[in-house]
Amino acid sequence: MKKIKTTTVLFNLFYCMLLKEELVVADGVFTWLQRDRYDEIVEKYINAIKGHNCASRSKADMMMRDDIVTQIPKANELLSKVFYSNRSALVHMHNMALNRAFFMSYILQRMNSTEDYSIQPNLHYLYMSVTADINANPYAINGSSIIFDKDVYYPNWLTNLDFNKTIPLFGVKGWRKDNTFAQGNFIREPNRRVVQVKDIGAGNNKNYTNERHKMNPWYQFWLPDLDKHEDKSNKFTYSIGIRYSNVTGKFIKEEFDVFNFFGPNLPSQNEKDNGKMPVRFTVPYFDCGKSNKWVVSAVSPIVDFFPRYSNYTHMRRQRFVGVAVMDIHFSKN
Ligand SMILES: *[C@@H]1O[C@H](CO)[C@@H](O)[C@H](O)[C@H]1NC(C)=O
Ligand SMILES: *[C@@H]1O[C@H](CO)[C@@H](O)[C@H](O)[C@H]1NC(C)=O
Ligand SMILES: *[C@@H]1O[C@H](CO)[C@@H](O)[C@H](O)[C@H]1NC(C)=O
Ligand SMILES: *[C@@H]1O[C@H](CO)[C@@H](O)[C@H](O)[C@H]1NC(C)=O
Ligand SMILES: *[C@@H]1O[C@H](CO)[C@@H](O)[C@H](O)[C@H]1NC(C)=O
Ligand SMILES: *[C@@H]1O[C@H](CO)[C@@H](O)[C@H](O)[C@H]1NC(C)=O
Ligand SMILES: *[C@@H]1O[C@H](CO)[C@@H](O)[C@H](O)[C@H]1NC(C)=O
Repeated sequence: MKKIKTTTVLFNLFYCMLLKEELVVADGVFTWLQRDRYDEIVEKYINAIKGHNCASRSKADMMMRDDIVTQIPKANELLSKVFYSNRSALVHMHNMALNRAFFMSYILQRMNSTEDYSIQPNLHYLYMSVTADINANPYAINGSSIIFDKDVYYPNWLTNLDFNKTIPLFGVKGWRKDNTFAQGNFIREPNRRVVQVKDIGAGNNKNYTNERHKMNPWYQFWLPDLDKHEDKSNKFTYSIGIRYSNVTGKFIKEEFDVFNFFGPNLPSQNEKDNGKMPVRFTVPYFDCGKSNKWVVSAVSPIVDFFPRYSNYTHMRRQRFVGVAVMDIHFSKN
């Protein structure tokens, strides 16, 4: 018994020495390689901040410099600029964010009558909508959200609340979950079909409209929209013609119904101001407590005629009430 122990100890000692030797050699190989900017990013951000230690980090620690992601797409350059093929995911996120913001602006302003109240986008609709964005884009989008500013969302699903009352915060955020080790997943491969969705405004200390909230780099681009002097230059009036159909292959009438609504901006070709673009990108930030990954988001604003229900129509104006946000992992963009 004792003999075996001694051998084990000896063997361990030998192994340690071997390992040490190896380490010294390994050290030698890498010291002559000069450290570059990528090593700095990895050391300062990616290795330093993880899901288990991010809660105690400051907001500044969890946001990278703004020059790290290159060739960020701009709405008025999409037709005139050649994008590298490794930027196609960013272009796709740009278009998805714009598409969601455009649609939400349209549907909120379209469904403004008493009969439409019960069929406005509700809790269920928004949860399904962000899930669909993620599941429809398994190779480009890791997260999608529709987030409302404070006191602008009328919850038609809260039946004990007056129709003209808003709730303070409502932000539907979805992100793809890794289900490699899920119980029902026998083959132990992620199938990219599991999404976690959460109302990020629910609960204590979840005020994402507050500057001190850590995980809201998408907020300050357009929200809160309280100054009406900018309305003309950062919103756009779209006029669309729609033909409705209630039977397959047949329209109710042959003419188009014209509908005008306010939506995200439509900048001219020579617009240089980034603030006038309909979609803007955040710096890479750590999505602490949600997906726990470094992500970059494309953000586009949602417009509504606000307040929705008021007898004083002259007090109403087209206002940015929320944002559509698309996330991608930093390592993939
Ligand atoms: C994208 O492709 C271009 C051209 O091939 C290359 O110069 C650039 O470094 C690539 N960017 C990334 C982030 O891989
Ligand atoms: C609903 O929207 C239409 C088209 O913008 C507008 O003409 C109508 O006045 C609005 N109705 C209400 C109740 O706000
Ligand atoms: C995030 O999206 C990229 C594609 O852009 C994909 O390769 C990666 O697996 C996704 N990550 C998760 C956890 O879904
Ligand atoms: C909401 O509607 C009720 C009646 O249904 C009315 O008494 C109240 O003043 C309205 N509140 C607002 C903020 O318009
Ligand atoms: C959230 O923070 C904003 C900005 O500080 C404040 O005006 C608002 O009252 C807060 N809302 C809630 C529900 O705490
Ligand atoms: C479709 O709408 C037209 C016009 O409102 C109506 O006459 C027709 O009965 C509707 N058809 C169905 C299947 O609901
Ligand atoms: C708003 O106008 C309607 C119809 O004119 C009226 O019945 C209602 O009492 C008014 N509501 C308020 C809060 O003034």
